[in-house]
Amino acid sequence: MLIGVLNEARPGEKRVAATPATVSQLLKLGYDVEVEPGAGAGSSFSDDAYSAAGATLGDLRAADVVLGVNAPTSTQLDGLRPGATVIAILSPALDAALVDELAERPLTALAMDAVPRISRAQSLDVLSSMANIAGYRAVIEAANVFGRFFTGQVTAAGKVPPARVLVVGAGVAGLAAIGAAGSLGAIVRATDPRPEVGDQVKSLGGEYLSIESPDVEVSTTGYAKEMGEDYKKREAELYAEQCRDVDIIITTALIPGRPAPRIISAEMVASMKPGSVIVDMAAQNGGNVEGTVTDEVIVTRNGVTIIGYTDLAGRLPAQASQLYGTNLVNLLKLMTPQQDGELVLDFDDVVQRCVTVVRHVGGRSELTWPPPPVQVSAAHAAAAEGSTGAAADESPPSAAYAPISPGRRLAVVFAGAALLFGLVAISPAPLQVHLTVFALAIVIGFYVIGQVHHALHTPLMSVTNAISGVVVVAALLQFGYADQHGGGGVAVLSFVAILLASINIFGGFAVTRRMLAMFSRS
Ligand code: NAI
Repeated sequence: MLIGVLNEARPGEKRVAATPATVSQLLKLGYDVEVEPGAGAGSSFSDDAYSAAGATLGDLRAADVVLGVNAPTSTQLDGLRPGATVIAILSPALDAALVDELAERPLTALAMDAVPRISRAQSLDVLSSMANIAGYRAVIEAANVFGRFFTGQVTAAGKVPPARVLVVGAGVAGLAAIGAAGSLGAIVRATDPRPEVGDQVKSLGGEYLSIESPDVEVSTTGYAKEMGEDYKKREAELYAEQCRDVDIIITTALIPGRPAPRIISAEMVASMKPGSVIVDMAAQNGGNVEGTVTDEVIVTRNGVTIIGYTDLAGRLPAQASQLYGTNLVNLLKLMTPQQDGELVLDFDDVVQRCVTVVRHVGGRSELTWPPPPVQVSAAHAAAAEGSTGAAADESPPSAAYAPISPGRRLAVVFAGAALLFGLVAISPAPLQVHLTVFALAIVIGFYVIGQVHHALHTPLMSVTNAISGVVVVAALLQFGYADQHGGGGVAVLSFVAILLASINIFGGFAVTRRMLAMFSRS
């Protein structure tokens, strides 16, 4: 089959649905690829680069599958052959007119933004890949306008305080913004009504500002819900306080299927310091900030800049095209089971079912939007039943997590100590030494490991694995004994022990090095 790559028609769109690198991957799946001339120019991919990757250049009249970033215009759709499959970001939930138009044409239409948020589909989740880029770019846009460093410095010319950044909403975009602002040296705080994101914020070096309210509970879908009046009152108090303190606010708060919640009021903006910057990433859905103008930058009377860009991901076009192109390749891998360049739409697969807006079969187009609902986060649902959040406080704690009472804990400690003393008393002298070392190792090990951060437990385990190579010492001693007193069996066993323990030592250190490298910033 022939895959065609659209030259985007939307004014200002610089992204492209395939890069030279993803063209090579499409060819490996057995497809031929044709790219409209100039399609990659906005992302710095020349026509020559596409040709070198193995694509041909031309119009898409003969294409069986058409890849685009945005929905093709009516004129572009007119130029496609009947029965073609169009794959793009179609926003079918928001654009009913487009869905109707697609349903009237002899086409199959797949919406990349309708991929269900399930673990298996993460590699084709275009909402996440674009939100990640947009969150990063929001920080860069803010830094561009902000008249100071993000990082704090002590210089001969004076002390520079670090910038204070507040990120509202710690979803995909919010977490990317927290990471980017933190890496520039800012002090970052974040809010989100889903308490489960607290640890994610902390792991990126941010401070999670929780809002205590009975409305707060672990999300069963991964998304936030419309919050009640109590929560809204408390969040308003928090934001009023934060607005007076922070230099930069990046808002990302969204609730699926609803307008963006209005979080920062005009009075809060008026209370911010002159020179402060707000990036309203929810501008497309109505905005989280009062006064945001979609796609524009405005400066308020008190000198606060509000950025309302809706094309933040597209402002890093080469990166966005590469990630989007990879999302498309992953969808096509799923839909090309034989890797023979033949697209197969399988409605038994939940991902393929969810993305299909219109299906063209037997010469007829069938509207298949909206798809049946998908359970996106069963694990969260289970967690929500008995753990964090005010709602959980009202239900009795589950037996598995019930804390041991102090009296019971003391009794267990005494019983353990008595058992150990009893054992020492009846054991022969050499064993007593070993038991003492064993008991000390438990106590010291407990306190040492207790001080190590959770994230470092796995490298710690691998290094202790290496230490267990002390077996080598014992085996070498046995080897010497066998050498002096004879004993072929002992020698063989010692050799095997040395071999295995050496693998443990070198393997343990190698794994530890690799794992620690993951935490290193250089
Ligand atoms: P989103 O774009 O719909 O929302 C952005 C953020 O705004 C969310 O974190 C939401 O909790 C927050 N928010 C809503 N109302 C707010 C308020 N009043 N104040 C402050 N924050 C508010 O969501 P996004 O970023 O696309 O994904 C949200 C979550 O979905 C992720 O954190 C993750 O748990 C899950 N997810 C799962 C995926 C998978 O398994 N494939 C892929 C992507 C996301």
